Amino acid sequence: MTRMERGKPAGVATAGPVEKLDLPTRLRRNRKALWSRNLVREHAVTVNDLIWPLFLMDRQESRWPVEHMPGVDRINIDEACREAERAARLGIPAIAPFTYIERDLRDPVGSEAVNENNLMCRAVRAIKKAVPEIGIITDSALDPYTSHGHDGLLTDDGRILNDPTVSILCRQSVALAEAGADVIAPSDMMDGRIGAIRRALDANNLEDVQILSYAAKYASGFYGPFRDAIGTNQTLIGDKRTYQMDPGNGDEAIREAALDLEEGADMIMVKPGMPYLDIARRLKETFQVPTFAYQVSGEYAMLVAAGRNGWLDLDRVMMESLLSFKRAGCDGVLTYFAPVVAERLQTAS
Ligand code: PBG
Repeated sequence: MTRMERGKPAGVATAGPVEKLDLPTRLRRNRKALWSRNLVREHAVTVNDLIWPLFLMDRQESRWPVEHMPGVDRINIDEACREAERAARLGIPAIAPFTYIERDLRDPVGSEAVNENNLMCRAVRAIKKAVPEIGIITDSALDPYTSHGHDGLLTDDGRILNDPTVSILCRQSVALAEAGADVIAPSDMMDGRIGAIRRALDANNLEDVQILSYAAKYASGFYGPFRDAIGTNQTLIGDKRTYQMDPGNGDEAIREAALDLEEGADMIMVKPGMPYLDIARRLKETFQVPTFAYQVSGEYAMLVAAGRNGWLDLDRVMMESLLSFKRAGCDGVLTYFAPVVAERLQTAS
């Protein structure tokens, strides 16, 4: 007789004689106590899995809240240095800054993107000086800098020009790397940009700078709060479906990643995260290279909103959502929860 059967069922009368099942395998045995669950667990989130996306701005005030991402602010360079210090203290390996560029600095061709004294380059230099040990991953794309909000050059008849955009991305990437960025993360989805950026970096003696390719980036509704944060939602003309991937496609993600790896990507990323876990799993199984997921702004907003309404236990679903990326095979996650999670992991251990 097992211990479980010996106990009386709480509060209910037994509904007559119970047939003893002849089961050699009872999966519940390993779940019977916390020590056993801890012992058999396959996956865990650690601080080394976290990349923290930050929003930068060029303003006097240190913080300006992002309305649709409670708990997330746009911050100025001084504050970014403090946040980078905090991240390093917590053991977060890398940060991924994005920029809110003032409207008068945006133009149709994104000229400010290649200015070596733009907000991002200045921030990278300041953070590298203040916190040399933290990794800095900078986005390569034109959307913060274009008046129309697209990641590339837009023609009068609404087309996005691939090859001319790639030349600008190369100059942008070299400027970022020269400012001290450790990793260039092209998020624009132009064809051939990984190879071109790799060659441009190498030609400038920047062969140690890594490339994290947004290999499978989908045309997603989940980017809404991010576009508010960097101020492109109001200005975006049309949508990004001629360069970002169709959400109905899976095989195409494999082709995208294969090309990016051939062209020299060191790491690949899937974005958004939770709605595309199947893609993360397929990429990891196909290529066995460092694979990341971006838990994007809309995913963050959903969880925080439900938590604030008392509909979900935020702490719990935050950890559970991150664990799903590990289970899918990801080596790490870009998440706005990074500092909160890192603090939680510290107190838990
Ligand atoms: C733009 C870029 C986007 C995100 C990261 N880089 C938005 C877009 O493609 O419109 C989204 C991140 C998020 O939603 O958290 N190159």
